[in-house]
Amino acid sequence: MPRLITHLCLVAAIGLAACGGSQTTNTTPDTPTQPSGPMLREQTSLPIGVALGVGSFEPASSIRYSPQASQLRHLAASEFSSVVAENVMKPEYIHPQEQQYHWNDGDYLVQFAQQNNMRIHGHTLVWHNALPSWMSNYSGNWESMLADHITTIVSHYSDSINSWDVVNEAFLDDGSLRSSIWSSHIPDYLAKAYTLARAADPDADLYYNDYNIEAMPKKLDAVLKMVTDFRTRNIPIDGIGFQMHIDRYWPSTNEIRQAFSRCVAMGLKVRISELDIRMNPNNTATALTPELAEAQRQRYRDVITTYLSTVPAELRGGITVWGLTDALSWTPWYYKIPDWPLLFDANFQRKPAWTGMSEALQATP
Ligand code: XIL
Repeated sequence: MPRLITHLCLVAAIGLAACGGSQTTNTTPDTPTQPSGPMLREQTSLPIGVALGVGSFEPASSIRYSPQASQLRHLAASEFSSVVAENVMKPEYIHPQEQQYHWNDGDYLVQFAQQNNMRIHGHTLVWHNALPSWMSNYSGNWESMLADHITTIVSHYSDSINSWDVVNEAFLDDGSLRSSIWSSHIPDYLAKAYTLARAADPDADLYYNDYNIEAMPKKLDAVLKMVTDFRTRNIPIDGIGFQMHIDRYWPSTNEIRQAFSRCVAMGLKVRISELDIRMNPNNTATALTPELAEAQRQRYRDVITTYLSTVPAELRGGITVWGLTDALSWTPWYYKIPDWPLLFDANFQRKPAWTGMSEALQATP
């Protein structure tokens, strides 16, 4: 019986029925593709995080409502030391009406994390996506509305959330400011958002989070220009979140290293905030073959090694993967291509990708 399944079934005491498949694997010897070893969270003091579904609108991935919820919770708490809500802390879900905040799902995640000694990262206060319609169509005082939104949410979680993505994806790939409800209605909204977040929780690390900044220097130029401007005006910001929705080929570890180095040179913290590594970007595969799985092991190892060798310990904000198992990844839905981009397979088994991550963590003090 593979080690992880043993652990899941016996320690979680969730019963054989919930682990039906394991009975047939009982007599099957371990294969090299089912790695064993200490849990990821036991291998490093660095926060190793995972994005989790919580809401009833996320029926497969929800650690609360999925038919597999107890297995999801057990795997998350066993391997990871940090969590982020994949959706339930986005404005659409947490602030569905102007006078109404929906705390229930976020609070569930916080309680789960606290019970399991995990850190909690907040995602995300200000974004152009996942907006409630009342916000998109707002006709009142926009600055007061932004202030209420940020202050209320950050204050609610000030005792529990360690760090926030204050603004997500404010720039386009060419480095220009993305036009959004925020840029259209609030001059200098970026600076205002960070100032409000710091006032509501002076202890939380405040991040700017975006995709492609590890691959597109012009986009990172714009982000770092914002940071430089903030510093001249005493606007708080602590770090940059690199989403890193990347693939087996793109970008190169050299490009990733250069991007991290630029942040380090400015004394910014660096998080890998939404890591997944797609192995089928050109839609040529129908399954994760052993060859693809091995390539993914090396790619995970190389990406994590690049992070650990470029970002000094005091500036490491941690590494978070965007989903628990391949079956729950957002990428097949988003890119409309089958893929297997995460550390665990649909049966909750560690993949070679897990080994790649583990190898990188164990090689670096
Ligand atoms: C994605 C979630 O994974 C999906 O479940 C949801 O339908 C759409 O959003 N960048 C981000 C994340 O900052 O919030 C996105 O999450 C993925 C891209």
